[in-house]
Amino acid sequence: MLNNTNSNVAFFLFFALFVGHGIVELQALHHVYIQAVKSYSSAKQPYRTGYHFQPPKNWINDPNGVMVYKGVFHLFYQYNPKGAEWGNIVWAHSTSKDLVNWTPHEPDIYPSQPSDIKGCWSGSATILHGGKPVILYTGIEPHQREVQNLAIPKNLSDPYLREWVKSDNNPLMQPTAQNHINATRDYSSSTKSKDFVNWFQSKTPLHSANNTGIWECPDFYPVPIKGESGVDTSLHGPSVKHVLKVSLDDTKLDLYTIGSYNNVKDIYRPDDGSVEGDLGLRYDNGKYYASKNFFDSVEKRRILMDWNNESSKQVDDIKKGWSGIHAIPRKVCLAENGKQLVQWPIAEIQKLRANHVSLANKLLEGGSVIEVSGVTAAQADVEVSFETKDFDKAERPSRSSLNENTDKATYGAFLDVDIQQQKLSLRSLIDHSIVESFGGGGKVCITSRVYPTLAINKAAHLYAFNNGTQSIRLKI
Ligand SMILES: *[C@@H]1O[C@H](CO)[C@@H](O)[C@H](O)[C@H]1NC(C)=O
Ligand SMILES: *[C@@H]1O[C@H](CO)[C@@H](O)[C@H](O)[C@H]1NC(C)=O
Ligand SMILES: *[C@@H]1O[C@H](CO)[C@@H](O)[C@H](O)[C@H]1NC(C)=O
Ligand SMILES: *[C@@H]1O[C@H](CO)[C@@H](O)[C@H](O)[C@H]1NC(C)=O
Ligand SMILES: *[C@@H]1O[C@H](CO)[C@@H](O)[C@H](O)[C@H]1NC(C)=O
Repeated sequence: MLNNTNSNVAFFLFFALFVGHGIVELQALHHVYIQAVKSYSSAKQPYRTGYHFQPPKNWINDPNGVMVYKGVFHLFYQYNPKGAEWGNIVWAHSTSKDLVNWTPHEPDIYPSQPSDIKGCWSGSATILHGGKPVILYTGIEPHQREVQNLAIPKNLSDPYLREWVKSDNNPLMQPTAQNHINATRDYSSSTKSKDFVNWFQSKTPLHSANNTGIWECPDFYPVPIKGESGVDTSLHGPSVKHVLKVSLDDTKLDLYTIGSYNNVKDIYRPDDGSVEGDLGLRYDNGKYYASKNFFDSVEKRRILMDWNNESSKQVDDIKKGWSGIHAIPRKVCLAENGKQLVQWPIAEIQKLRANHVSLANKLLEGGSVIEVSGVTAAQADVEVSFETKDFDKAERPSRSSLNENTDKATYGAFLDVDIQQQKLSLRSLIDHSIVESFGGGGKVCITSRVYPTLAINKAAHLYAFNNGTQSIRLKI
């Protein structure tokens, strides 16, 4: 829905409704909020984000070991301390009280023993019974074998968990087949091992599918059938459905199925109609990969975090000194129809809103443009909703960019709209080089990276325009 156009220095909020016949009453609700946070973006660094997670410099990828411990949120992430391209991977560490403002700590897990000397790759944190956190991570051995290692906190009284001790038993798990030696990574763990140190391979897999390539960053968790709350990861039974998410290495998509978990047989089965592979359900239809989620036991919600890579060329990443950001954490729950998930930016992000601007009761005639003045579009939280009797003729615009080196893939998504309700809503979080959009209350999400060459900082304007033939009434 957002365009970086050639002729104007502007971002456009794009309503393209082509209505064939009859008079159509269209109502729109616009709330435009500008984030009040200090922007780190500058004339020299127009693509640095203002309120998304990114360290001061260098390469980042997957979020790891996300958890809440003693009221403090922990985010570990794959990090190259030496540059803006992938390599030398360690677990960097940041903590937060609100999932918005983060305090960096020294990297916690870095290559130091034979079982991880070539890299400390992705893994996850598990809160054991009794509230004790542990980390299971993928270590790269000298011969590129991928093995699983355990680390435990040195001081459980420290809510910031600043020091971790690697287990003497590492590696705890190793690839069992030759063709898996470099395809056994990114474990997610629950509390199923008796002692978390001694592991054995189940005779039957939890789940399997053919011809889907390497599954990175698998996630397996319960979602309540009713309501928006999250539940503890070990919960199972008739009140929940289970979600299995895999990040497909071949296509770089985070895909999931919804189904049932038989805890006696330890087998997961997707529901009929819940499709596997590239044609299945996606967390996000744009750029969104290697996600991890955790149960926030304080607010009783399940939270999703991910990695959004750059769409620019590596040479440009090295020039700007950094690569990769994380999307705003999303609360995730089951849709009312039980067939898909719904995602929404965490409520904490609303605390950043300032300079409320709204377009109320304005008639937007076919072919006209209205500037949403009083804001710069470089950092904005935009909410739009509109109603019509006829969505049949709605069209979607394409993306363009003046920057020739940018990946300009166009993303699209299908959204089930209840024709009776005649309502369509969209929320977009814009932050310099990222646009995260949530359609239909979070039923479809599209995240993209953008690198405007003209619409930079204060020169970024926000417009509502109607490329159709019928008038649209904008109302609060
Ligand atoms: C453990 O952490 C607590 C809280 O930060 C601190 O008071 C205590 O000195 C630490 N203990 C050790 C042995 O470092
Ligand atoms: C994994 O191992 C196979 C077989 O040795 C090799 O062909 C492939 O390039 C390796 N992949 C990576 C990512 O190292
Ligand atoms: C995958 O393919 C193998 C070999 O053709 C077959 O035995 C197995 O049942 C298939 N697994 C699934 C989950 O379809
Ligand atoms: C990163 O972005 C590039 C270009 O946009 C894309 O081709 C690639 O698959 C992405 N990689 C990952 C891991 O998402
Ligand atoms: C829609 O209208 C805007 C503003 O008049 C114009 O810049 C843009 O090119 C139009 N887009 C299409 C797809 O017609």
